[in-house]
Amino acid sequence: MSSSSAVSTVTPVIKTLKVGLAGCGTVGQSVLTMLHRQKALFHSLDYAVSLEGVYVRDALRPRDFDYPGAVLTDDPHFLEGTDILIEVMGGVDRPLELWMPHLERGGIVITANKALMAERWDAIRKYVENGQVYFEASVMAGTPIITPLATILRASTPIRLEATLNGTCNYILSQMERGQDYHTALAEAQRLGYAESDPTLDVGGGDSAHKLTLLARMFIDPEYALEKVQVRGIDTLPPGAVNEALERGEKIRLLCSIERENGEWVARVEPRALPLSHPIAQADSSHNALMFTGEECGTVIFMGNGAGGATTASAVVGDLISHMDGIPGPKQVSLVR
Ligand code: NAP
Ligand code: HSE
Repeated sequence: MSSSSAVSTVTPVIKTLKVGLAGCGTVGQSVLTMLHRQKALFHSLDYAVSLEGVYVRDALRPRDFDYPGAVLTDDPHFLEGTDILIEVMGGVDRPLELWMPHLERGGIVITANKALMAERWDAIRKYVENGQVYFEASVMAGTPIITPLATILRASTPIRLEATLNGTCNYILSQMERGQDYHTALAEAQRLGYAESDPTLDVGGGDSAHKLTLLARMFIDPEYALEKVQVRGIDTLPPGAVNEALERGEKIRLLCSIERENGEWVARVEPRALPLSHPIAQADSSHNALMFTGEECGTVIFMGNGAGGATTASAVVGDLISHMDGIPGPKQVSLVR
């Protein structure tokens, strides 16, 4: 072979994705860390990420971090020129005001915001169906469950789903099993960044209900309404309940379930005493666990981190990588089961 016929090397065309970050608290700061750390990985997929700005409530508040190129602002106009909105600010109506114009002009949203997903389904559903919304981080943080439900598990006929979906409650109950009191454990969960900005959403079961609603839409019914979830939080537990359960060889967990009762699917969030050997009782501290039972696949168990900045950012950036790979955002089930 002559030297002139040697294989020529092709330089890949690097595409630049313009990303806007909304929220720079526990999750947002970890997203910034990962965007910085994974630059080489993005490049290997022929992408570069250009961070166009970071939208926060108070841009003048001194922060104890400094990310090169991350400009904090309380003016969201820069988002209009972005391809991807990463929304990790929380709340419902304010983030929706950012999502809607972005989605209407064909943009991509990546989010950890299960409250908005659960409460404003009518507004966003068609964009989810269009694959424009990625939300792996919204349930079980960095432990994958949305993607498996949207893909491989769709084939199996659903029988039952049981889970702990709130890291704060799991942390509080685990700490109480070690002798800590409820209020100290809750304060510690807040300090560690696990709790919602309004922690009554955690201990009252509302956050679990948001997540269970998203799962129900992927498991049994694309229209499943938040209002149908029966909710009781760990704030209703009588004093001494955690220790009394331990003495019986049980652990109390905030159990989320979807199962058929008298021919109807029922979704519930409630504190339940589980035998120590129960797989869901094995999830300690801020971990979550989920058991999916399908007629054909049997019982499949997912367990891992359920709250915290780094684990949640891992799912957010994982979604960004899925988008770079040409994988559309996950879809809910397409028929009522
Ligand atoms: P966080 O620490 O309270 O941070 C919220 C961020 O959003 C802050 O930077 C805040 O700005 C900004 N923000 C809030 N409201 C705003 C508004 N109206 N306008 C502009 N900026 C606003 O919250 P987080 O724990 O990171 O949680 C963020 C989202 O991720 C929530 O949807 C939460 O449910 C979800 N999530 C959290 C976790 C977790 O473990 N923390 C896990 C999974 C999912 P300032 O900095 O100026 O206050
Ligand atoms: N507050 C939530 C929890 C954050 O404790 O599970 C993760 O969604």
